[in-house]
Amino acid sequence: MLNLIIFGPPGSGKGTQSNNIIKKYGVQHISTGDLLRDEIRSGSELGKQISLLIDGGNLVPDEMVKTMVEDFITKNQAGNGFIFDGFPRTVNQAQWLRNLLATLGSEIKVMISLEVDDQELKKRLAGRGKELGRPDDQDDEIIRNRLEIYHTRTKVVKDFYRKLDKHIPIQGIGTMEEVFERICTAIDK
Ligand code: AP5
Repeated sequence: MLNLIIFGPPGSGKGTQSNNIIKKYGVQHISTGDLLRDEIRSGSELGKQISLLIDGGNLVPDEMVKTMVEDFITKNQAGNGFIFDGFPRTVNQAQWLRNLLATLGSEIKVMISLEVDDQELKKRLAGRGKELGRPDDQDDEIIRNRLEIYHTRTKVVKDFYRKLDKHIPIQGIGTMEEVFERICTAIDK
């Protein structure tokens, strides 16, 4: 099984590059952001709670996200592995994922971490906000909050995988094709 993590701050290109990775490596895409937005679209009570958090640029509680991830993995066992996009986002989630995969006789092979500076991220998110209307891209203050949460709570997850010798930083600036080529070189190694 090929289990990969694509990691990086909001707007670094995780979703864009996941689409390329699933085509080339035949792994299944598990995006916690997409799962949470699906729940919001369902109109459920849970979705309403999630919407309040996401639309303000805040993280959803670990336990809620872990339940969704476990459910997705349980229902999608047949494939070649997973590309985790937007998960894990806290050290607690990383530890939990390690334990869950171990119970399935599996593990994360590599964490690809997209490195993009805040100025470029703000430009990309504001651009996508105008184009696609995602609520958490609409406001400079919300974007600033998302970046701050990345720097204070999420970035440290890189250290977790660095200690396991699985962390590979990739320059995330360049054309989408250039970034994908760098990712493939890292995975193929
Ligand atoms: P999530 O959906 O994961 O959003 P995010 O991390 O904020 O990431 P984005 O989707 O904004 O960006 P991306 O890195 O995927 O970049 P993309 O490819 O789209 O999470 C949303 C929210 O859900 C979180 O804020 C949180 O509230 C909650 N959540 C999710 N997971 C959670 C978890 N595990 N725990 C707790 N809460 C969780 O690209 C962005 C833009 O840049 C696009 O317009 C794209 O076209 C452009 N672009 C991409 N690559 C390039 C390039 N090389 N050059 C120029 N432009 C580029």
